Amino acid sequence: MSQPTATTYDIVIFGASGFTGKYVVRETLKFLNNNNSPLKTLALAGRNPSKLTQALNWAHPSYPNNIPIITADISDPLSLTQMASQAKVVLNCVGPFRLYGEKVVKACVESGCDYLDISGEPEFMERMEAVYNDKAAADGSLVVSACGFDSVPAELGFMFNVRQWGEMGVPNRVEAYLSLESEKRIVGNFGTFESAVLGVANMDKLAELRRSRPRRARPQIPGPGPAKGSTIEHQKKIGLWAVKLPSADAIVVRRTLAALTENPSGLQGVNEDPKQAEKRAAFWSTIKPAHFGVKIATKSILGVIGFIAIGLSIGLLGSFSFGRWLLLKFPSVFSFGGFKKEGPTEEQVESARFKMWFVGQGFSDANVASQRNAKPDTEVITRVMGPEIGYLTTPIILVQCALILLKQRQDLPKGGVYPPGIVFGPTDLQDRLQENGISFDLISKNRISM
Ligand SMILES: NC(=O)c1ccc[n+]([C@@H]2O[C@H](COP(=O)([O-])OP(=O)(O)OC[C@H]3O[C@@H](n4cnc5c(N)ncnc54)[C@H](OP(=O)(O)O)[C@@H]3O)[C@@H](O)[C@H]2O)c1
Repeated sequence: MSQPTATTYDIVIFGASGFTGKYVVRETLKFLNNNNSPLKTLALAGRNPSKLTQALNWAHPSYPNNIPIITADISDPLSLTQMASQAKVVLNCVGPFRLYGEKVVKACVESGCDYLDISGEPEFMERMEAVYNDKAAADGSLVVSACGFDSVPAELGFMFNVRQWGEMGVPNRVEAYLSLESEKRIVGNFGTFESAVLGVANMDKLAELRRSRPRRARPQIPGPGPAKGSTIEHQKKIGLWAVKLPSADAIVVRRTLAALTENPSGLQGVNEDPKQAEKRAAFWSTIKPAHFGVKIATKSILGVIGFIAIGLSIGLLGSFSFGRWLLLKFPSVFSFGGFKKEGPTEEQVESARFKMWFVGQGFSDANVASQRNAKPDTEVITRVMGPEIGYLTTPIILVQCALILLKQRQDLPKGGVYPPGIVFGPTDLQDRLQENGISFDLISKNRISM
């Protein structure tokens, strides 16, 4: 390994030695120095150089050892500033983000580089927006969290659904049903489990933060308000049982819809030409707001009961400190085998895949929608489908977002802290994901009677 010089690297992967980080390295290397790729230089960063070297060898055993290593530790802010000042884009894979993320965001904003991460922690995302948006916007640092499975399939999947309604159609609500499939056991790594447990422990912090902030604009959604529904739903159209998933997705989609309400033509690119500005405005004119929720779904009601048991275990034990200690000491026991300290095996990762169904209901036209007590008369079902969520889909998404930053920076906002949808919605991100194994399909569009 060569030592880093004072050059600027297109991408620096921070936390490259982590479970997810090493899969991000593997995905990134596919695009390094390829003919059409904007990615020409890459560095790996973290606190332990020998673990970073091991991660590179795992990711690509035959890759020439000429990827620079940058030593950077969360406990050493200067090392983070030095890392950020050598990067065009930092890909942050060091979590839990509530514990470690802010110092990295701060270093990137102060150095003026761009920042993407794979956080699924809403309180962290909204706190970064509250603290750093103004400086990031002024100084030209683009900070986008949730560029992984949390929450790009939800953001792009929602937009894909509402774009199928045509000029006349008016969606009212879109419910996403996430189904995880595998021939082997589906397992997540400890890092994600720890992030979820800490999220439960600090749930009141998000409400507190929101109370201290100005209210965001709310989109006007024609028709009835969001439906309450039963705790367990049998969604017959797609043959799945489902229960509410308390993930970041719905919150992130709502933040994008709030940003769109405040900026109906989207966010102006830092150096975009008039044609691009027109294209951006045309894209956003096709995105109609709707209520949005996410459920975790499976073929059998027993599976749903299993999800409820995991949710109760994390929810109850996560709310007091001895319970959290138990959860973090014995993750496999209290998640019923869903999370392991050593993470999934490569075979488990390879055999897993996801389907996210988006069931949209609304009105055939605005006249119907504006009638009193109008009931939805149209249903649009779409689906986003791809490989394993945490370690295959997440790196694919993160890397494609980074490549867009490198290639189309002039079309993206000068800076600021945003959710991914409002930044990447009008770009070619969906096409790029499709080229890399994540599909978007229209399943059906029907008149319904309710
Ligand atoms: N959006 C999604 O769908 C998605 C998918 C997967 C993961 N994630 C999130 O990504 C995060 C990481 O998960 P993971 O399973 O990969 O965790 P992990 O295996 O524990 O990796 C954590 C990484 O952080 C590094 N780190 C910890 N403390 C540090 C410090 N003081 N200074 C510098 N680096 C430090 C570790 O370095 P060492 O190797 O030196 O210990 C390691 O590289 C979690 O928050 C998880 O929720 C999100």
